[in-house]
Amino acid sequence: MSADMALHQKIISMADLVTPMAVRAAVTLRIADHVGTGQLPLQELARLTATMPRPLEKLLKHLVTLNILSQDGDLYQLTELGAALRRENGRFWPFESLDVEGLMGRTELSAIHLLHTLRTGESVYHGMYGTDLWAHVNEVGNVEDELWSHAVPPGFDIEVVTRHPCWKEARTAVDVGGHTGALAEVLISEYPALRVTVLDLPVFANVAQRRFSAAGTADRATAVGGSFFDPLPEGADVYLLSAILADWDDADAVRLLRNCAQAAGPQGRILLSEVCLSERVRAVDTGMALWLEAVMADPDRTIDDLTALAAEAGLETGRVDEAMTRVALELRVR
Ligand SMILES: C[S@@+](CC[C@H](N)C(=O)[O-])C[C@H]1O[C@@H](n2cnc3c(N)ncnc32)[C@H](O)[C@@H]1O
Repeated sequence: MSADMALHQKIISMADLVTPMAVRAAVTLRIADHVGTGQLPLQELARLTATMPRPLEKLLKHLVTLNILSQDGDLYQLTELGAALRRENGRFWPFESLDVEGLMGRTELSAIHLLHTLRTGESVYHGMYGTDLWAHVNEVGNVEDELWSHAVPPGFDIEVVTRHPCWKEARTAVDVGGHTGALAEVLISEYPALRVTVLDLPVFANVAQRRFSAAGTADRATAVGGSFFDPLPEGADVYLLSAILADWDDADAVRLLRNCAQAAGPQGRILLSEVCLSERVRAVDTGMALWLEAVMADPDRTIDDLTALAAEAGLETGRVDEAMTRVALELRVR
């Protein structure tokens, strides 16, 4: 092969979309679970996955090339690599995001709209759905069970939020954009005198309410469906904004902070916490940095940026906490 051809080949394979989609199709069709520890012929796999034998055969043969399946005559079986794709009851299954019919998998496919972000500065979801991800999920319907089964505990140095001294005195809090209530659940378990209202779009609030009812904590945690750009419940001690502002441009971020300030009044405070990759991580993991840029309005805000947005919303920054992947700013009305 000539040097030119080799470079050509290298770039083409770097941009390949077929293999990633083949793996995702295999996951979506649960091929590893159907094959299990046995061996199956094409026709049986086509029946089990409700697919057409001719294209399925092409998929299976590509999975053999990828060393996910091996072929013995007419029969297919899992290799050691392919066996890793099987679900085992009760064990965390790390491949959920590869199911292209699931919420997370559909979200990942948004990467094909990267040009939209580059040309407009908007998240890829605007190119894909004409709106932000959360509004889209709220509108598609029938996702509550999926959200319920994917509910994961809060992460990314969440102790910066959960150990914040404001909770010791607080009796009431609104978790603004509190998602499916996982963080609220941690807060009420750690602070017995605290009551939390989760405010999120209706589909997420429904799942949060289901969580509180299932856990028997509905007397201390409630969920309200609505938009955080509309007036918020007033008079709580703390308004928590955790991992929210990165999804919004400066104008919307200030609008949201003003809304929190309005509800908090001079007595309340706002705990603003953002998840952020350090400059060092961004330099090393350029793919992750690009992905975050594609799915968020502004993933790079620094403490100074957040302080400036708060000031524009009439808020004064007090205590600031910083960990490897998260910052928290305590804000009060000036
Ligand atoms: C990145 S998640 C953060 C969830 C949670 N606070 C955390 O720390 O993990 C953003 C949340 O904002 C919610 N959200 C987005 N737009 C909203 C709106 N207009 N009104 C209320 N909630 C909204 C989403 O539904 C989602 O639950």
